[in-house]
Amino acid sequence: MGEIWSELRAHNAAKVQSKILELFNKSDRVAKFSARADGLYFDFSKTQLDDGALSLLLELARVKGVEARRAAMFSGEKINETEGRAVLHTALRAASGLILVDGEDVMPVVLATRARCLDFAQAVRDGSIVGQGGSYTDVINIGIGGSDLGPKMATLALAPYHDGPRVHYVSNVDGADINDALQGLDPERTLVIVASKTFTTIETMTNARTARDWMARTVTDPSKQFVALSSATDKAGEFGIPPGRTFGFEDWVGGRYSLWGPIGLGLMIAVGAQAFQHFLDGAAAMDRHFQDADLADNLPVLLALVGMWHNQVQGHATRAVLPYDNRLSRLPAYLQQLEMESNGKSVAMDGSALAMNSGPVVWGEPGTNGQHAFYQLIHQGTRVVPCEFLVAAKGHEPELAHHHRLLVANCLAQSEALMRGRSLDEAREMMAAKGLEGAELARQAAHRVFSGNRPSTTLLYDQLTPFTLGQIIALYEHRVFVEGVILGINSFDQWGVELGKELAVALEPVLSGADEGAGKDGSTLALVAAVRAAGGI
Ligand code: F6P
Repeated sequence: MGEIWSELRAHNAAKVQSKILELFNKSDRVAKFSARADGLYFDFSKTQLDDGALSLLLELARVKGVEARRAAMFSGEKINETEGRAVLHTALRAASGLILVDGEDVMPVVLATRARCLDFAQAVRDGSIVGQGGSYTDVINIGIGGSDLGPKMATLALAPYHDGPRVHYVSNVDGADINDALQGLDPERTLVIVASKTFTTIETMTNARTARDWMARTVTDPSKQFVALSSATDKAGEFGIPPGRTFGFEDWVGGRYSLWGPIGLGLMIAVGAQAFQHFLDGAAAMDRHFQDADLADNLPVLLALVGMWHNQVQGHATRAVLPYDNRLSRLPAYLQQLEMESNGKSVAMDGSALAMNSGPVVWGEPGTNGQHAFYQLIHQGTRVVPCEFLVAAKGHEPELAHHHRLLVANCLAQSEALMRGRSLDEAREMMAAKGLEGAELARQAAHRVFSGNRPSTTLLYDQLTPFTLGQIIALYEHRVFVEGVILGINSFDQWGVELGKELAVALEPVLSGADEGAGKDGSTLALVAAVRAAGGI
């Protein structure tokens, strides 16, 4: 196994100088280094991967048991070993089937809960469930992390399908977030969704209590304006939200994988049952592709392998996700949790230290905005940043087709520029044509050189429909899974977020002055003192 990694590194070392552009001298380059699934087209030909590297990577996936682990996940085995849980977000989008956890079929409850959520969403939309002041005009989803990023990203992505009440998302414990969200809303016509798998997350519970106090100013029974989405239905009850207004899910749905079930309620209310069902169908289509396609044609597998080539083999620590689709502007933030909370780990499943880099730093912004911000570094910085472009063939604004043409031209031009670059000779020629000569020509030309040979991939889809969005998100989920299996880590726990939470709880009384903070370091105590001196808390 270690041998395959060594072979990959040796292969990379031997080819590191090779030019991506020259790989296209072989006429079958594009066909070999691209793959399709149900209308998605993934092009990874603008990378340094060649036949040899790709077959080693595919061999790695096989040897690491991706296929067996995939079967284990879909069948409900407890592959989240540090928490002793199955990993079954795929069940949330399945149309039917038999999936056993502890000997019990989970599907009847999944289907019944889906129907309940969709019925509730429909009732909110058509006004058969109303607030104290009449039909709901606004919905606020209070949640954080997986209880916010997924539904918020998807709600924005599917804006052309909105025909329900306005849906807002509040996540930050910073009072500015809820304060700004509540401005101009009528408590009597606002529905508050408290979304928290555990129903203990301090940010969410603090915001939920603030929303309840706001409601109580004019609403006689605020609990009637609330719903809860949680695995801890008892805790929702303690908060005052009755079982009839609580939508539960099992512990085998990880927070960052949860938008397919009750956590998607805000999206269901925004776009309605039919569009939400198409969203699930898209994800289910990707699930089938992931299970059935040969590894060499398998989009999630290929995305994972290309990413590992760049990160674990070539040593590029970050990856930019660049959607040329403004409605996917929250996709990078969503992927930061999905990828970094899942695969940002330095311990293997068996407790030993990871022998290589964990998953990459994922970041990005939509194009073309990013072009006018950080692309300078991507093109001419000293570090190589593999780029992942996403773009639709069609926009949703046919009357603005010229905008879309420009958007696509920019997207394709960026990947071309990254690969092609501009040589010193070309730069000199350009400056000479502008009339420069001698030392000034040399100096100015040097600044206009692009090394090129910078890798990128492009995911092209027809249009950002609910179905396509479902496919894309499921594609990324499975990519993370494959990467985790190859790294030998557990992608489904998140112990790394605990320490900061514990310390925050311990610091609150220090900030309020109730505790002196004995044992705290000098930096922390000085910062606390400065905040207290400012009198803001
Ligand atoms: O702190 C990380 C985390 O546990 C995430 O994994 C999760 O999505 C988020 O907090 C919110 O958790 P909950 O849905 O339980 O409020």
